[in-house]
Amino acid sequence: MSRPAIMKGCVLMNKQLRKPVIAGNWKMNKTPVETTALINEIKPLVKDASCGVVVCVPYIDLFAALEAAKGSNIKVGAENCHWAKSGAFTGEVSADMLASIGVPYVIIGHSERRQYFGETDVTARDRVRAALDAGLTVILCVGELLEEREQNITMEIIGKQIKIALAGVTAAELERVIIAYEPVWAIGTGLTATAEQANEVNKAIRGLIEQLYSKADADSIVIQYGGSMNAQNAAELLGQPDVDGGLIGGASLKAADFAKIVEAAC
Ligand code: 13P
Repeated sequence: MSRPAIMKGCVLMNKQLRKPVIAGNWKMNKTPVETTALINEIKPLVKDASCGVVVCVPYIDLFAALEAAKGSNIKVGAENCHWAKSGAFTGEVSADMLASIGVPYVIIGHSERRQYFGETDVTARDRVRAALDAGLTVILCVGELLEEREQNITMEIIGKQIKIALAGVTAAELERVIIAYEPVWAIGTGLTATAEQANEVNKAIRGLIEQLYSKADADSIVIQYGGSMNAQNAAELLGQPDVDGGLIGGASLKAADFAKIVEAAC
């Protein structure tokens, strides 16, 4: 595993406690046929990765993704799940349903869900609870709007998002939680947080986890960065001591670019 020279001493030791995870968030892209093709393209490119590799796909693509990823080191995730086990929730999919077909990961609280579909910290909390109860690993997304950053309330916003979403989550369950810091202003805009900005927030999130849980939990939790991460800027972002991987949108739809990001994390 090659790491940049800045990763020395204790910082490096702490980072070695964690295995980075690169997760693609395909959003509303790809049909099942295209899913099979893209995963088949990605598979040989990432087969030797020492980090975790996950692709989160639309519900309709899950079967195709699971089938294509079978026998490889690529894990499959959904992009959301409902908080109830079943019931009159037209158009929704429960965490138990995802678990029943063998999906191990689920994204929860993505800013696009919050922005376009009225999701809140409380619904994120309920979805996290359902996902953990179903045995899934959660990728919990948090992040501030541009005006919140400009008002210097980034950590207040993110602190609130995390405290609410993780309310009731035990230390044992936290082992199945990945936090993705995704500044809303950097998503799909081509604007990336600088490596320092990403690390500053990820470090503060780790500090909050230490307060809420313990130092050992803070040292072991995987905290990703997401927002216009691509093949060119990944190495710098992933080289930061508190950035343990990435949640990748646009660049995860191109096999070669996604593989380069995976390579930068390993
Ligand atoms: P982009 O990488 O396209 O900016 O999307 C990031 C994201 O929202 C991942 O969840």
